[in-house]
Amino acid sequence: MDTIEAIETRRSVKKVTEKIPPKALIMKILDAARRAPNHFNTEPWHFTVLTGEGRNKLGEAYGKLNQEKLDQPSRELLDSVYEKGLSKAKRAPVVIVVTVEPSDNPRVKKVEEIAATACAVENMLLAAHALGLGAMWRTGDPTYTETMKRAFGVSENGLVMGFIYVGYPEAGVTYKPPARKSVEDITIWVEK
Ligand SMILES: Cc1cc2nc3c(=O)[nH]c(=O)nc-3n(C[C@H](O)[C@H](O)[C@H](O)COP(=O)(O)O)c2cc1C
Repeated sequence: MDTIEAIETRRSVKKVTEKIPPKALIMKILDAARRAPNHFNTEPWHFTVLTGEGRNKLGEAYGKLNQEKLDQPSRELLDSVYEKGLSKAKRAPVVIVVTVEPSDNPRVKKVEEIAATACAVENMLLAAHALGLGAMWRTGDPTYTETMKRAFGVSENGLVMGFIYVGYPEAGVTYKPPARKSVEDITIWVEK
């Protein structure tokens, strides 16, 4: 698959099977990430690969955050929302947690560190697709909480960028490309 085809056919794949992709394929995805463009080559990105029961590291954070939202809950409800958190992290056999630690070099802009890490994520999504895997970048409010930052050892200045859920696409499930404005609608050509 060439790059243009990969860009044109990649979709966020929500439904994946429980089959665990071989480590070699996950390594390929991580290798694609580290090749992203990056001003000053600070390599601000970090990855935590969760598989099997390792996914509980994310699930426990989801669970705790679910519990914190409740006002005077019963023990039963606390347990049930915690379990929900655990199962949320098991929507794919592999979850790659992406974090960014911006450089403290005063010449380096934080926004560019985040941009470079987003480029790394797109490389990962395209690589997963080209390797026959399905991947999806997921975030949501829990991503940006102190609880989540702590769970993945992110510094005060750092950020959790999100969770890349990876697996083999479930057979027979298709995804419609989202509506997008035309190139003409989003572009101004300045020729003189
Ligand atoms: C930063 C970021 C966060 C996202 N978080 C979620 C999410 O939490 N839940 C979700 O369903 N999709 C999430 N997505 C995926 C988008 O919904 C998806 O990319 C969009 O609908 C376009 O579909 P496509 O990726 O198949 O082109 C996220 C995408 C990005 C870039």
